[in-house]
Amino acid sequence: MAQRETWATRTGFILAAVGSAVGLGNIWRFPFVTSEGGGAAFLLVYLLFIFLIGFPAILVEFVIGRRTKLNPVGALRELGSGVWKYVGYVFFVTAFVILSYYSVVAGWFVRYFIIGVTDGYDDAVGQYEGEAGDDTIPAELLFDSVATGLDSILFHTLFMLVTIGIVALGVRKGIELAVKVMVPSLIVLLVGLAIWAATLPGASDGYEYYLSPDFSEIAANWTTLLPAAAGQAFFTLSLGMGVMIVYASYVGEDRNLAKDGGIIIGFDTAIALLVGLIVFPILLTATPDPDGELLFASPIGAIFTAVADAMTEVPDVLGLLFFGVVAVAALSSAISILEFIVAYLMDEHGFERRPAALLAGGSVFALGVPVTYDLVFLELFDYFADSVLLVLGALLLVIFVGWVIPDAALDEVSKGVDDIGSAGAAWIWAVRIPLVVVLAITLALGIVDY
Ligand code: PHE
Ligand code: NA
Repeated sequence: MAQRETWATRTGFILAAVGSAVGLGNIWRFPFVTSEGGGAAFLLVYLLFIFLIGFPAILVEFVIGRRTKLNPVGALRELGSGVWKYVGYVFFVTAFVILSYYSVVAGWFVRYFIIGVTDGYDDAVGQYEGEAGDDTIPAELLFDSVATGLDSILFHTLFMLVTIGIVALGVRKGIELAVKVMVPSLIVLLVGLAIWAATLPGASDGYEYYLSPDFSEIAANWTTLLPAAAGQAFFTLSLGMGVMIVYASYVGEDRNLAKDGGIIIGFDTAIALLVGLIVFPILLTATPDPDGELLFASPIGAIFTAVADAMTEVPDVLGLLFFGVVAVAALSSAISILEFIVAYLMDEHGFERRPAALLAGGSVFALGVPVTYDLVFLELFDYFADSVLLVLGALLLVIFVGWVIPDAALDEVSKGVDDIGSAGAAWIWAVRIPLVVVLAITLALGIVDY
């Protein structure tokens, strides 16, 4: 095999990985599963998962990728024995399912961006003023009209076409640049919105709901909280699907994988936490019922409802920027998923890039169409992919690194580190037993829930 190219700049790897990680998982999925999980109780379990499971698990994918410098299927075949290559098929299925609805949701962000340009949020929300009853607010009805039907399929088409186009052309340069601009502007926008949300009458109720966990609730609901929090942790970090294996396969030996992993997780978590500080004050301000009946009326639309509602009081340009930047963030994540499928078809089945992008992208598009008709499909795909498939993928990779290639993994994780001390051995130990056990239990709970 020819010498594999490495990232052009030292930060190329981090930028691409952050670009894949930061997306709808942080902005749309995080507030929606947090509100379904009851707020702060969910948040606590989620944060534990990110740091105790997500961090060691991202290193697992990094060492496999940098060790073999191959795609996940090839990597597992080279390092393990024959049967391990089938793990790659799990990733393949996961990628299709996730991207299919990811594109639909990303399309909603594009649609909301356009609403800001053409009608303005005030008018768009205002037209539902008369219809909204006691248990809905106008912004929720706007969401219902965007989420399904012709609009939804139109913007799903548009989003998929752009994703296919970029992957077909194989432009990586543009992605690095987009991430460099996008992540800082996203953070600035979110901080601004969070400050504004702090001034709302429902702010303290919102913080209470979001930040003060009720431990008895965790104890009572752990069998559902665990798979939900795990699914969200893996989804948001792009883990359990081999995407991080692909990125790490281009990384130079001089990089400290643990440090880079920490930076990526830090950005991703900070952005999600900020989103919560915006959404919950807004939702609890809009909610007439402090017990949060309304909060759960349409969790999937929480971020759209909250921000559109907020935009009726602040200049449209803020909303326009918000929806636009998120659409770009979603694009860099969607590209990472389609690129993953395409790389597999090219490496393993001798496809050319363009036909592979078209074929894979077209199939993903078709799979997403039912979602635009009925959001039941979204919940179905989303739950299955996240709480079952991603957890399964992560479990298999953890077993692989912990039990099949522990020595190679330890050697790999030590590269680029000044003095690893006993940290490497501690990591391997954590991967071999605690991670395997926790993920196996989580997977079992996820399947039972499903
Ligand atoms: N991590 C991305 C997000 O938070 C989604 C994603 C999942 C991307 C899996 C790649 C692989 O939006
Ligand atoms: Na994310």
